[in-house]
Amino acid sequence: MSVRIPLIAANWKLHKTLAEAHDFLDKFRENLKLQDVDVVIAPSFLGLHSMAIALKGSPIHLAAQNVYFEEKGAFTGEVSPGMLHDVGCHYAIVGHSERRAIFGEDDTMINQKVRAVFKNSLIPILCIGESLEQRENGETEAVLERQLRTNLEGVVPNQAAKLVVAYEPIWAIGTGKTASSEDAQAGCKFARNVVDEMFNSDVSQSLRVQYGGSVKPDNARELLSQPDIDGALVGGASLDPIDFEAIVRGALG
Ligand code: PGA
Repeated sequence: MSVRIPLIAANWKLHKTLAEAHDFLDKFRENLKLQDVDVVIAPSFLGLHSMAIALKGSPIHLAAQNVYFEEKGAFTGEVSPGMLHDVGCHYAIVGHSERRAIFGEDDTMINQKVRAVFKNSLIPILCIGESLEQRENGETEAVLERQLRTNLEGVVPNQAAKLVVAYEPIWAIGTGKTASSEDAQAGCKFARNVVDEMFNSDVSQSLRVQYGGSVKPDNARELLSQPDIDGALVGGASLDPIDFEAIVRGALG
């Protein structure tokens, strides 16, 4: 029996002013008792500090949407993992497909980020996933395996056990085309198996694998009931406190 607690994360991307972020929090927290589910919110960098203050003592944790791998120095515009830890972040999303595609992050850089995040006592939410073309060419498993093996190079087992992997098929992100629960389960299970081969079964049974890509209130429960899906990384539907709450409730069975 698995004891993994589901983790539902809101990836707000380039949305919400400070006032909108706090309004969301007020509405979202109004009537939700968080038990048996972990909830994480990833606002813009600018929202992290004041949201950390507002969430003090709350079970809701914060994630950064991105991070750089250097600690300090001449890296104009970047934010280090130590700075994120200092501001009260617990997680950092690393390797989101938008970072890979729009900002040119490659597997080697993502690996540097994963290691830097762990080194600073944060937990990476490592995003992996195949494009539509790769899926149609039958390359899904090869892509996921290559991403995991390169992105997790140099990570040690006790770090990997805390890792969150988000399996996000690129064709399902922001398109309204959710993967079927069978395909989502297959991708998450495959990712867990690769981790099992890379580390050991203690690690693969502890780490959490999320599904992401057009998760909505009406498909969350079925996706989250799959044995290898331990949560969801939610973009569009996480912007609305009522929809996000419904998705969180979907994790409670
Ligand atoms: P979506 O985004 O829920 O809007 O498809 C998911 C993500 O990019 O993490």
